[in-house]
Amino acid sequence: MEDQLTLDSILDKHPALRCVEHRKNAMYREVKSYVLRGQQLKESQLHALDELYDDYVIEYKQDKLDFAEVFGNSNPVVIEIGFGMGDSTAKIAAENPDINYLGIEVFLYGFSKLLSNIRNYNLKNLKIMRFDAVQVISDMVNDSSVNGFHIFFPDPWPKKRHRNRRIIQVPFAQLLASKLKQNGYIHSVTDWQESAHSTLEVFSQIPLLTNPYGGLSPASGWRPETNFERKGLDKNYKISEIRVIREPDAEVSPK
Ligand SMILES: C[S@@+](CC[C@H](N)C(=O)[O-])C[C@H]1O[C@@H](n2cnc3c(N)ncnc32)[C@H](O)[C@@H]1O
Repeated sequence: MEDQLTLDSILDKHPALRCVEHRKNAMYREVKSYVLRGQQLKESQLHALDELYDDYVIEYKQDKLDFAEVFGNSNPVVIEIGFGMGDSTAKIAAENPDINYLGIEVFLYGFSKLLSNIRNYNLKNLKIMRFDAVQVISDMVNDSSVNGFHIFFPDPWPKKRHRNRRIIQVPFAQLLASKLKQNGYIHSVTDWQESAHSTLEVFSQIPLLTNPYGGLSPASGWRPETNFERKGLDKNYKISEIRVIREPDAEVSPK
């Protein structure tokens, strides 16, 4: 009889899944932008982890990624930070087969849900990591190698006392800018006005980044609604988009 698939058996098989941060990396320890929520995985998510891990999951290591090797081609690379349930991530990847996507998320429930969607959408251009995005980008991504960063609704805690949990602060913005190719972009979206202003303020302090709109960007037609966004829209929250680019000399492409 086949052994029953449990989360413990999967964690034993892929011990890297147990750990979402590398504790010796002191540089970004002050910014803890996530909390780990427990949630029981569904059967389909356990199967996705068991069957798709080797093909679609990248593990954290202190070594730079070779994107051409990871994706098997030299297409542009876009990194999404904190994809949540990953529904919009899968749709964006399906609509843009000539762009490679690397999604990073610590929330295991969403991580394994996206893994099963990779199979449902038959995606060849999306890989995912379960690790602190700050450490991944710092330790594993070469300078001037990324075409875009997506940061959709990074702040779940709209309280002043949680301000220091915001991921978009000057050192992180500097880090992202250093990883962008010329004309590469950061596209950030929030439903929290104060966070939008703070993000604009942070980006304005990074000499490598330019805001072609001088403030909020127009609503983008290419971006599917995210899970978190839907909840904000139900409460009539205003959605703010911010797009900055590294070096200003090319058209801002929509994706
Ligand atoms: C408010 S949720 C939004 C999720 C999704 N982008 C959406 O719009 O539905 C923010 C997500 O970012 C993830 N996150 C925050 N900081 C992170 C980090 N440093 N590394 C990886 N994921 C992170 C959290 O686990 C959470 O799932």
